Amino acid sequence: MRLIIDTDTAGDDTYSMLLAMKTPGSTLEAVTVCVGNVPFDQQVENALATIEVAGFSGKIPVYCGARRPMVKPWEPSTMHGNDGMSGANLPIARQRPETLHAVDAIIEKVMAAPGEIDILAQAPLTNIALAVMKEPRIAKAVRHLWIMGGTDNSVGNITPCAEYNFFIDPEAARIVFEAGFNITLSTWTLTMRSSLFEADQLEEIFAMQTPLSEFYRKVSAVPRQTAEARYGRPISTHPDSLTCAIALNPDLIESARDAVVRIETMGEITRGFSAVHPPVLGNRWPDFKVNARVVEVASNDGFFWMMKQAFS
Ligand code: BDR
Ligand code: CA
Repeated sequence: MRLIIDTDTAGDDTYSMLLAMKTPGSTLEAVTVCVGNVPFDQQVENALATIEVAGFSGKIPVYCGARRPMVKPWEPSTMHGNDGMSGANLPIARQRPETLHAVDAIIEKVMAAPGEIDILAQAPLTNIALAVMKEPRIAKAVRHLWIMGGTDNSVGNITPCAEYNFFIDPEAARIVFEAGFNITLSTWTLTMRSSLFEADQLEEIFAMQTPLSEFYRKVSAVPRQTAEARYGRPISTHPDSLTCAIALNPDLIESARDAVVRIETMGEITRGFSAVHPPVLGNRWPDFKVNARVVEVASNDGFFWMMKQAFS
């Protein structure tokens, strides 16, 4: 599979990149950085450092994209520490970012190989929305768009109604869901259901003592502490890397449904909420077209196995 990852590189974004670099059959063709978790230039350094740690320095270009959301001001995520890497203090990578803008890189790569490139969008959707506004043909030329964001009509992680990626740029999310892409959506609801590693799984990874399992141990430290305070046990959550694992191996999906996904852009309390509903609502409403497949349950065992393979 030929893949572009659009990322706000921090914590779990980096394990997703490791999966894409290390899983046989996957070619990570480019990384595009988007506004999100931590200050923009730090995210670029985190992406470059991750590529270097994985042994792919100079082989995967990194492009800089949108530095702020479309309408509302940027807000950092507090999940991953100030540097997004739990203070792991990785050396500055030798590779430097490209000069071409991420939006143009996405358009160029997709239009050069229509129907061949998948995009994994694991950040606010600003870059993808700007790309499809500039070149609407990419909606049909991207083979598949795998999105991590929103909830399945459930509780979010940044507000009770919203997940971070859609909350930060709901206008961009709305544009992307209305653009005609072939979308699979992996939500925060799925994250809490299928992506968690419990204490025994974490011990198994730490016991591997490989350079990449050590990278995982260090970079996941702050989110694990936050999760322990919030959920009462030392779990680790993997919204982005589960989405990547599903993209690389859709057999992980145990249950999914076709749905209409609409993003709330105006609600005072519900801004960034993803309404996930069937195409026909009743006679007060027009019929809506299905615009995404929403993953409900994925195999935690299969995901855990893929992560261990990537770290080995
Ligand atoms: C998403 O937001 C970010 O904090 C994570 O990187 C992930 O993409 C989870 O809400
Ligand atoms: Ca992310």
